[in-house]
Amino acid sequence: MTDHSNKDGFKSNLGSILALAGSAVGLGNIWRFPYMVAENGGSAFILIYIIMVFAICVPAFMAEVAIGRNTGLNIFGAFRKLAPKGWWFQIGTLGILGSFVISSFYIVIGGWTLAFLARSIVGSFNGMNASDVSVLFANFVDTPIETSAWALGFVVISVAVLISGVAKGIERFNKILMPMLLGLMIIMAINSLFLSHFWEGMKFLFQPDFSHVNTHTVISALGQAFFSMSLGMGSIITYGSYMRKQDNIMKSTFSVATIGILISVLAGIIIFPAVFSFDIPAEAGDRLAFVTFPAIFQVMPGGYLFGIMFFMLLLVAAVTSNISLLEVIVAYLTQEYKMKRGIALAIVVAVLSVTGTLCAFSLSSDTSLIIGGRSLFDLFNYFSAAYLLPICGLLISIFVGWKWNKNSLKQEISSNGLYPVRYFPFFRFMLRFIIPIFIIFVFLYALGIM
Ligand code: TRP
Repeated sequence: MTDHSNKDGFKSNLGSILALAGSAVGLGNIWRFPYMVAENGGSAFILIYIIMVFAICVPAFMAEVAIGRNTGLNIFGAFRKLAPKGWWFQIGTLGILGSFVISSFYIVIGGWTLAFLARSIVGSFNGMNASDVSVLFANFVDTPIETSAWALGFVVISVAVLISGVAKGIERFNKILMPMLLGLMIIMAINSLFLSHFWEGMKFLFQPDFSHVNTHTVISALGQAFFSMSLGMGSIITYGSYMRKQDNIMKSTFSVATIGILISVLAGIIIFPAVFSFDIPAEAGDRLAFVTFPAIFQVMPGGYLFGIMFFMLLLVAAVTSNISLLEVIVAYLTQEYKMKRGIALAIVVAVLSVTGTLCAFSLSSDTSLIIGGRSLFDLFNYFSAAYLLPICGLLISIFVGWKWNKNSLKQEISSNGLYPVRYFPFFRFMLRFIIPIFIIFVFLYALGIM
């Protein structure tokens, strides 16, 4: 089986798992997950999140990989090939627009990461405690010219990886850096053990308290699970289209889900003991990670070097995720309009420099980019995860569960019979019934209709 011999694609099973994991693991795990946990009362949220990952997102992820690998095409082309009639290919429209929306705020945080890496190198955080960092951060986001410049820098790095293509860019990069990120996170989690309020942090993370659970918690957990597994926007379809026919879809999916949860929980183990030890205000919200990490490095032995290493790896994790969003658009433009990769990337950069700048400016104190009480940045961040991704996930599940021929689906999931598909009926049942019913139910509830 030498498919992809004339096409750029992932060259090994490990390579494709790490690329998928690279897409999944990113700011969503290290920046977004901790503040979602904090906003939603801790441990019970984590439990619901893990259930969402395995019950809803794992089948949805397998479905996306299968669509991509079966067709070998971008999100638009894939749906058009599988269902030439009807409006299913419009999922592609949502995916392309959504990828722009998510990337627009994602690059702003990517820019923060870059800026904090630079500040760690020059020692700007030296001698600072958490409240000093908090002030520094507030002043920093209130200088949108600076933050948009960093965001653009982040886009340039993403483009530099993407320009080399799939195997030489995406795969090679992920294979080296993902294991490093995991290693460093483990070292930092061990360091957490020595913080004064370690157990308080652990209790917050692991002792379930269901008194905070409501529909909002469930929607946030669902959105976080979709966001964290890169679902709904076509990242996984696109990466699936670069996978070799002999790779095991089920096994790869479970590996990615497990790695994602592991990194998220490690981020929690690193952040929450520090939150309690350094009196970081609980309402720190989406700046939680950026205030906590520099403060931890000030009290950690070897903190200067670890700080640099950490922001470097966070940058890498963010880049490997962002490129999977941009690749959705690049694959679309290069395949559907026969554009050169360079031209497609230029278009992406042109759009993002406008939308990313708007997001950065919407966080300054004198901004008028507020819609319904939320900054554009918040709006993109919250609504994409809570609504856009689950809705697209719902459509994709219905498509794969009801529209796609059962035997072709089974052939694809089993790599034409190469792997046992014991769980296939369960997987298909989830796609057909449980996922759609659950998502619709959650939304009706949220809208107050039920
Ligand atoms: N999963 C990535 C993260 O956790 C972000 C991401 C990449 C994403 N591609 C996506 C989110 C597609 C939603 C849809 O940081």
